[in-house]
Amino acid sequence: MRSENLESVAKKLVAPGKGILAADESSGTIEKRLESINVPSTEENRRAYREVLFTTKVEQQGIIPGIKVDKGAKAMANFPGEKITEGLDGLRDRLAEYRQLGARFAKWRAVIAIDDGIPTRTCIEANAEVLARYAGLCQEANVVPIVEPEVLMDGAHTIERHFDVTEQTLRSVFNALAEHRVALEGMLLKPNMVLSGKECPQQASVQEVAEATVRCMKRVVPAAVPGLVFLSGGQTDLQATEHLNAMNQLEGLPWQLSFSFGRALQAPVLKAWKGEAANVAAAQQAFHHRAWCNSKARFGKYTEDMETAKAA
Ligand code: 13P
Repeated sequence: MRSENLESVAKKLVAPGKGILAADESSGTIEKRLESINVPSTEENRRAYREVLFTTKVEQQGIIPGIKVDKGAKAMANFPGEKITEGLDGLRDRLAEYRQLGARFAKWRAVIAIDDGIPTRTCIEANAEVLARYAGLCQEANVVPIVEPEVLMDGAHTIERHFDVTEQTLRSVFNALAEHRVALEGMLLKPNMVLSGKECPQQASVQEVAEATVRCMKRVVPAAVPGLVFLSGGQTDLQATEHLNAMNQLEGLPWQLSFSFGRALQAPVLKAWKGEAANVAAAQQAFHHRAWCNSKARFGKYTEDMETAKAA
């Protein structure tokens, strides 16, 4: 009964044409976002900004609320430059409360950094283990876990290196999920796309990114997982849409390829809003437009000229 329900919620979350707005920034992260438009991160401003997002007119039906339940990626003892995500203590009780308040899915983000000598196997496995324990607790509470092991794009690494680390990370994550008896049909994976490092002099093309990402996912993500909801991870909004679109044009995809973008959905909204009530309509229009472009990209039907077109 529970697993049927989990499965149907997971499927609804990745229904064709839909996506997820990631607006679950921690206080520290939202402060950075608001600073970028010179708006102080007060409770009032944070609420006003999120109201802009949440009151945008979309087809109201079928919006499913979820919540971030991790307590952040913290420095991992004895592993300089590496992080381990915390938040398992008391999670069972918190999940029960969130479920009662209406949450139907949750998110936990693990962070894997690439640099000389890192990531270590210890860091990858420690994060995979807590992701799997989190996913198990979510399913017990009848909440769909979104499992997010993010291999960062920061650094000068090549796309090949990003591919290898992503493959290794996902392999560990799916091993741990199996060990913890997580039902793959009742979860979603939130992976990074496979990219050239931000500072890498040689940047892969859109087609290369799409092919490398799908190739990597096909190696390690079982077809039983209903969908992959990509994070944007610091790509521009246009890049993220183009990459998603190119992936959805590839043949033989066993899962839905969708999005759970934070920055790539919110950047144009912040830019239009600037903290002023007078700009709310323009900000909502920007959000609607970005969501519309990404919705088209889910069918591989996004084109550049849509950027200047009005959302249909
Ligand atoms: P980005 O799309 O900005 O990477 O954010 C997604 C997210 O929710 C990270 O946890």
